[in-house]
Amino acid sequence: MNEPTETVINYHKRTKHRLERYAKGPEVIDWEDQPEPFRRFSGCGIIRLPMPGAELEPLFADLDNPEIILAKPLNIATTGLLLELAFGLSAWKQFGPSRWALRCNPSSGNLHPTEAYLINTDTTLLEPGVYHYVSHDHSLEQRCQFPHKYTDPGILIGLSSIHWREAWKYGERAYRYCQHDLGHALGALRYAAATLGWSVELLAECSDNDTANLLGLNRSGDFQALEHESPDIICRIKTHADSRSLDTRELLESAQAGSWSGKADILRAYHLYKWVIIDGVSNAATKPRTEEPNWQADQRQTVKSTCLKTATTIIRQRRSAQQFNGKMSPITITDFYRMLVAVLPVSKLPFDMWRWPPKIHLFIFVHRVEGLTPGLYALPRSNDALEQLQAATLADFDWHKVSDSVPLYHLYSGDCKQIAKTLSCHQPIASDSAFSLAMVAEFNSAIEAAPWLYRRLFWECGLIGQVLYLEAEAAGIRGTGIGCYFDDSVHEILGIRDGKFQSLYHFTVGEPLEDKRLETLPAYGHLPDYY
Ligand SMILES: Cc1cc2nc3c(=O)[nH]c(=O)nc-3n(C[C@H](O)[C@H](O)[C@H](O)COP(=O)(O)O)c2cc1C
Repeated sequence: MNEPTETVINYHKRTKHRLERYAKGPEVIDWEDQPEPFRRFSGCGIIRLPMPGAELEPLFADLDNPEIILAKPLNIATTGLLLELAFGLSAWKQFGPSRWALRCNPSSGNLHPTEAYLINTDTTLLEPGVYHYVSHDHSLEQRCQFPHKYTDPGILIGLSSIHWREAWKYGERAYRYCQHDLGHALGALRYAAATLGWSVELLAECSDNDTANLLGLNRSGDFQALEHESPDIICRIKTHADSRSLDTRELLESAQAGSWSGKADILRAYHLYKWVIIDGVSNAATKPRTEEPNWQADQRQTVKSTCLKTATTIIRQRRSAQQFNGKMSPITITDFYRMLVAVLPVSKLPFDMWRWPPKIHLFIFVHRVEGLTPGLYALPRSNDALEQLQAATLADFDWHKVSDSVPLYHLYSGDCKQIAKTLSCHQPIASDSAFSLAMVAEFNSAIEAAPWLYRRLFWECGLIGQVLYLEAEAAGIRGTGIGCYFDDSVHEILGIRDGKFQSLYHFTVGEPLEDKRLETLPAYGHLPDYY
């Protein structure tokens, strides 16, 4: 095993939560000294985007057939909407003197390590260059002005992560959460683009170094050393069917020759803990330039959505449930199957942009689903994985196929509420729901092929999580991502004995209970000029 692979595997093992001890995190959290939740660059030109909050006509159900959605023209209003619906604010919550913002994309601990950049080559939109999106202000900070005009006008979105922002609260395990959040952000971007009639292409060939150069993240003098941003991915936004491929080499030359401005404001004055293991795994999982496939899943019949709300409404109302009604009536089998089919790698959004065969499979604790015996079920997301999962898990599982339309397999009947709760760090959200689940990755084969694939496994989990969040809202219920679970206890319950498969994320869906003590305020009410 080469050194980077070993570093990644050791990081993964070391950051497992165990029933007898949690992964290493800060011993004390100084809530008064939280990192600033919004990154800003001082010394840049600022472009205020048009008023957020516009409704678009497409229904959430229309996203099943994105080809029927008429593509909106690319202009400053639609670019603003893309950014808002993917990464913008969705509400503020207030409890006593505390006030915090929620965004369209979720984030572990609401810490939001993901930063978004717009790269523009269309002179009719904005001066060609690189812009940082400030979700709080719904504005763009111009970091780079490109020196020349482009023959291929268009926009791209670049994503990066400030690992330290997440590590402030979660310590060593935080690197995993940054990757989950990135997957959620990709999903949020794909749904936002689809409501505008646009699609997304992941420029996955780029090396991290190219991405960093393009986004200005290698300009070390512009960042506090401990608050640097790690490059993640560049996404091309296809605003019309015949939009041509942008040459990333040309963009890189522009970024190199461009005129850069701004320095990142300090997020926090004092860094009590330093999580060197995160820098270690981040270095080991650095991606070089690669050839990437364009794998496409087969078509599959979706289960028709009964949701009559617009896509923009569903995107903006998405929240994590903090509590579920443990006495809820079961959800319908149709709603359950709709959610399961939506996470299969069919050539439907958001998986139409995912260029690789699925590596993540679901083990589902069914608690309250009409017509299904409570118990443990499996949803292999590829036919190839079925036999391998059968071989890797408990021999007692019966692997009885439940339905002709969904690859759902019954493994074991019984009340799994207590098990699900215990496995998810004793959180009642895993047991009071309709169902909760573990996302199990084809682990060793991926990491041994390339250590940076570690990140992509979590991104795939985040993407699945984003589908579940939105589908749950559309079904009139709610979901919550669960990053806190006892890794090897999950493996033990499933019978998984080695690193071939590993559980990388949990999720739960049910009927939410509102916390009436919390006041909800409008997303952009703090920007009075908008209202
Ligand atoms: C990767 C990830 C892990 C999460 N883990 C948990 C968890 O273990 N328990 C929990 O109650 N919420 C969890 N959440 C939900 C977040 O706390 C929530 O997204 C955040 O507070 C923002 O709220 P919102 O989703 O309503 O916008 C997780 C979310 C994500 C994206």
